[in-house]
This record gives sequence, C-alpha cells and structure tokens, in this order.
Amino acid sequence: MYNTITTELRDGILEITINRPDKMNALNQEVMKELALAIDEVYKNKEVKSALITGAGPKAFVAGADISEFLTLSPDQGGELAKRGHVIFKRIEDSHKPIAAAVNGFALGGGCELAMACHIRVASDNAKFGQPEVNLGLIPGYGGTQRLVQLAGKGKALELMLTGDMIGAEDAHRIGLVNHVTSQEELLEKTRGILRKTHDKAPIALAKVIRCVNNFFVYDVDGFEAEVSEFAGCFATKDLAEGAAAFLEKRKANFKGE
Ligand code: COA
Repeated sequence: MYNTITTELRDGILEITINRPDKMNALNQEVMKELALAIDEVYKNKEVKSALITGAGPKAFVAGADISEFLTLSPDQGGELAKRGHVIFKRIEDSHKPIAAAVNGFALGGGCELAMACHIRVASDNAKFGQPEVNLGLIPGYGGTQRLVQLAGKGKALELMLTGDMIGAEDAHRIGLVNHVTSQEELLEKTRGILRKTHDKAPIALAKVIRCVNNFFVYDVDGFEAEVSEFAGCFATKDLAEGAAAFLEKRKANFKGE
C-alpha cells in the first residue's frame, strides 16, 4: 500500500517505519504524503490506540528532509514545503492518541523535528540528534526552532542550531530531548511498553491531557482556563463514572471512550 513507509498494527499500536534505509530514511515528499496518510489512520481507525514511529535499518531514524529536493526550489516553493511539513507534524503533536518516537539512529534536521513532534521519545544508545541545517545555508523548517526550545530550553536549542553539532543519546537525555535511552535491542519493546500503559486509560482523558499540555505553548490561550474547561468536560463522560466506580468497587476500569 505504501512505497516509502511500512505500517503494522500490533496490540493496538500502529507501528510506522520510515523505510528508505539507503537514503538514511530522509523525508522526501512521498514519505511526507505517506506519513500523513498513516497519521490519518491513527486518528480514524478505532483499533489503533497509539502509534510508534521509527526508522528502517540500523543506522538512521531519519537523517532529515531530502536535501536532493532543495536544489531547485524558489522561496515560494520553500515556504510551501515548510507549511506542508508543519501541518503534518502538528497533526502528530495534536493527535488525541499517544504517539512515540523510537529513535534508532541519526535523528537530524527533519528527523529530529519529527521526533520532537511526537509526545514521547525513546532513543537507542547509538542515536544521534542535531539540527545541522546551517551547514546547508538553511534553518530548521518543520517546527524545530520552536519545539527544540520547548524541550531543551533556549540556551541549548540555540547552541545546537547555531553550531549544527550532533549530540549522542545520553546528552539528548540530559537536556530533556528524550525521555529514555535503551540498548538498540530493547528500543522497540521499551517504547511499546510505554504506549501499552496508556491503552487501558480513559481515551477522552488522554486526549484532554494532550490538548491541555499543548495549550501551554499557545500564546493566546490561557492554559489554566483551558484546563478548567477540559476538566469540567470529563464530568460529561461515561468514562469518569466508570473509572470512579471501578476505584470504589476495587476493580479494574473498563473504559469505552465515551
Ligand atoms: N537527504 C538526502 N539524502 C540523504 C540525506 C538527506 N538528508 N541524508 C543521507 N542521505 C543519503 C546520502 O546522500 C547517501 O546517498 P548515496 O548513497 O546515494 O550517496 C546515503 O543517504 C547514505 O548517507 P551517507 O552520507 O553516505 O552516510 P554516512 O554514514 O557517511 O553519514 C549522515 C550519515 C546522516 C551523517 C549523513 O548522511 C548526513 O550528514 N546527512 C545529512 C544530514 C542533514 O544535513 N540533515 C538535515 C537536512 S535539512
């Protein structure tokens, strides 16, 4: 069905693998289109409870946008490319179902930006992160100038983007860019384990947590007010009635997402 990615539904997790290992899984326009379709499936398929994004092969998660597509672009076309990327990555960030990146190697440029758009990042110990666009006369264009500041803070973000330096998984962990570091062998199972923990939680509550946390970074939304309103909305759900009753009856809750 896809040419440049693969998808597999395992235990409620849609595993999306960027599959251009001979090109370090670089994001060309075909990958971006197919990734958008896979994210649509995360939104729409009721059997999908969460998603995992990784890269094919042992070397790269994603080594950036495909540089070979940059050679002939006009400023307008460059702007259109960035806008399309922003829409797709924002859809990942705004997904009401958790999405985790299992970073299995180079996560550079658009690859680092893809990982940062996910809700959770787990890296294998061989992973390398960076925003090397200045080496090409470019800047990050898929949200990196914003999301790297959000995750690592202004000082580290500026240093990485101004020097183009790559950092290893442990350093990425230290600066808050990744949540966990594992061996290469354990990477997928560790990431799946985190996602599986969300599967028996109330789906509407998960969506509300994601929305509230994302609101922190929207300058014209008062995140505290938004939280009050999302909290209030929980009281309109059957899930809250079920969750509270299950706690009091000392049994496991069976959430329906209603
Ligand atoms: N876009 C297009 N092609 C890419 C690519 C990218 N972002 N990253 C790697 N490739 C291609 C290489 O051109 C090469 O293709 P070829 O075999 O047809 O020559 C292939 O992937 C393997 O990459 P190579 O550079 O030979 O591997 P390496 O192990 O020596 O180095 C990297 C790996 C990731 C350090 C290096 O490929 C790199 O620096 N990539 C670009 C990173 C970047 O600047 N990203 C930001 C883009 S905006």
